[in-house]
Parts: sequence; C-alpha cells; structure tokens
Amino acid sequence: MSIKRQQVIDALKQVIFFAKQNNIVDLNMIDDIEIKDKNIKVTIIFPKLDDPAVGIVYNSVVKTLKQELGDDITVDVKPVSEADRGRGPLAGVKNIIAVISGKGGVGKSTVSANLAAALMKSGSKVGILDADVLGPSVPIMFGVEGQQPGVIERDGKPVMLPLENYGIKILSIGFFVKPDQALMWRGSMANNAFNQLMTDSEWGNLDFLIIDMPPGTGDIQLTLAQSYNIKGTVLVTTPQKVAAADVRRAAMMYRQEKLTIPLLGIVENMSYFTPSDMPDKKYYIFGQGASDQLANELNIPVLGRIPIMEKVVETGDSGMPITLVEDNPVSRAFMDIAGKLKRMVEDM
Ligand SMILES: Nc1ncnc2c1ncn2[C@@H]1O[C@H](COP(=O)(O)OP(=O)(O)OP(=O)(O)O)[C@@H](O)[C@H]1O
Ligand SMILES: [Mg+2]
Repeated sequence: MSIKRQQVIDALKQVIFFAKQNNIVDLNMIDDIEIKDKNIKVTIIFPKLDDPAVGIVYNSVVKTLKQELGDDITVDVKPVSEADRGRGPLAGVKNIIAVISGKGGVGKSTVSANLAAALMKSGSKVGILDADVLGPSVPIMFGVEGQQPGVIERDGKPVMLPLENYGIKILSIGFFVKPDQALMWRGSMANNAFNQLMTDSEWGNLDFLIIDMPPGTGDIQLTLAQSYNIKGTVLVTTPQKVAAADVRRAAMMYRQEKLTIPLLGIVENMSYFTPSDMPDKKYYIFGQGASDQLANELNIPVLGRIPIMEKVVETGDSGMPITLVEDNPVSRAFMDIAGKLKRMVEDM
C-alpha cells in the first residue's frame, strides 16, 4: 500500500516544537513533503538553523514517521531557515535587536523607544515590540495608549496589524493586559502572548525590530533566544546597578553557547547629570567606570552613555520619545548609538 500525504501530515502532528508549544504542522513549519514509494522527504522551516531544536525535531520526525508508517521506510529531513525561504512571519524583518537588562527601572524602555526613534530618523524602517509583561510602557511613550491594533487575515488566519506612530510600527503586550493583571500573565500565558506579538502579526518589511524585553532571565528570554533569529542584544545598565550579579546573569544567559545570540554592547543609561540650562556640564553622580569594567569582562563595547535629563521623563510621559522631540545631549547620544548599531549589523 502506498503512503499517502495525509498520513504523513497526521503523523507529523505528533512532533512538537517545544519553544512554541505546538506541533510543527499547525505552526506551518512544513514546507514540502515528497513521497516516493517507501522514501519520504520532509522539508521543515525553522526560525534559525543553528539551534538545538533543529536536531530534536529532526530525530522526532524520523522516529514518529517510522513508528506510524513502518520501520522499512526511509526518512529524509531537510531543515531550511525562514530567511532562506523568504517565508515565515518575520521573513521581512532584517534585524531583530533585543534590549535587555538585569533589573527593572534602569531605563530599558526609554532606551528601546529612543533607539527605535533614532534608527527611524537615520532612515531605517523600524518596529518596536514591547514584551515587558510586568511593566509595558511603550504605548505611553509612543502616545498610543488605549488604542487597539487592527486585525487582518493572512493565509486564512487572523493576524495583528501593528499600530503606527511617527513612522514606527508598534505592538505591545500592554494592548492586551490591564496593569493589575500583569502578575497573572507570567509564565506560559505571557510566553504565548509574546509569540503572538512576534508571529501572529504583520510586521511587513522592516530594517529593525527593537524588542523591549522584560528584565531578568525568564521564559520569554528563553523563547526569544531559542526560537527567533535575533541579530543581537543590547544590555542596558546604570552606573550604580552595573555591579549587580543580575546584570551578569542576564548577559551570560543570552551568551550561553547553545543560544548563540551575540551581545552587541552596553548602553549605559543615567551616566551623568546634565542640567537643561547647562548642556555642556556633566555631573557623575553615580560614579564612573563600572560599565567599562563590565564591557571589558564581557569583551563587548560600550555603545554609548545617556545623560540624565528631566526632558527624558517629560517626553516619555507625553508620548513622544525625546530623540524625536529636540536635539539635545540625550538625542545625540541615541543617534550615535543607532549609527554604531547599523554599522555593526552590516558587518555581521
Ligand atoms: N536618561 C534618563 N534621564 C532621566 N530620566 C530617565 C532616563 N532614563 C530613564 N528615565 C526615567 O526613569 C524611569 C524608568 O525608565 P524606564 O521606564 O525606561 O525603565 P525600565 O528599565 O523600562 O523600567 P521597567 O523595569 O519598569 O520597565 C522613567 O520615568 C524614565 O522616564
Ligand atoms: Mg520598561
């Protein structure tokens, strides 16, 4: 009896891609199935190929097909990447950059928002994804609080259309969760929401997608590292918090060999105080040198230092990142960091 395509598909539904907690058929990962007598060739699309999940799925496909269709068949699995196929929900996104930190409150969202703004100002197509379940703040910073993203259909499935303001595409976990529900959203629910924001959404063609990650080292960090093709991470620190163990832990997590995401560099926020009326003055109220030491230790550059300025808080609260509002030491620092990042990813 000849093997039918549907039998293969039914069997493949038993193969789970753990990072996304679903089977490879429903995740649309099957690119092609060829059947010749007792030989089955399955082409599977992975977010990226240098990931341990590829080997796990590979073995599981061979085992499951033999188990369901007979030990005498031969199975050939061909893994391809979304980028190679020019397919997959994020295929149009050239560079995904995750902004991370050890602890909360160091200015991760401020850095994400202004980095997105600076990249846009320097001519790139940019999106920002706010994945911070515990404190989504990107909607406020971009003046789209309370708005809802649109829904369109793709391959017969509803997907979200990011909101757009100042020419930047925006999606946030904050569109779907009330502040007082945040704690309940930890764990797998948060992880699912994160996956939906990433892939059940229509980002279109972007040069950069900036992700404002939750602080620390949880489920979402692992999912991001394992199942998406991330160009690199930017680590935000402040001079007084840089020595803390959690900064190193966060950095090391993304750097673990099996995750293979490059740490592109450190952005030191609140480096010094610059009064608005004396833009040339620098007061190092939290001390100096700690970020350089960490950068040395991790062998990555300090991409830039952002001064403390009152205007940052004002502009953040009023819905337009400071880099878009005026030219001052903070916006200049962000423009400089954006330039460095662009050169870095061009060389990668
Ligand atoms: N360079 C700066 N100068 C002045 N204020 C700043 C600066 N950077 C951040 N802030 C302010 O500090 C507060 C915390 O910043 P932000 O929300 O960006 O931090 P976060 O790391 O994202 O925090 P959370 O962990 O709560 O998400 C905000 O009110 C912000 O406006
Ligand atoms: Mg934040």
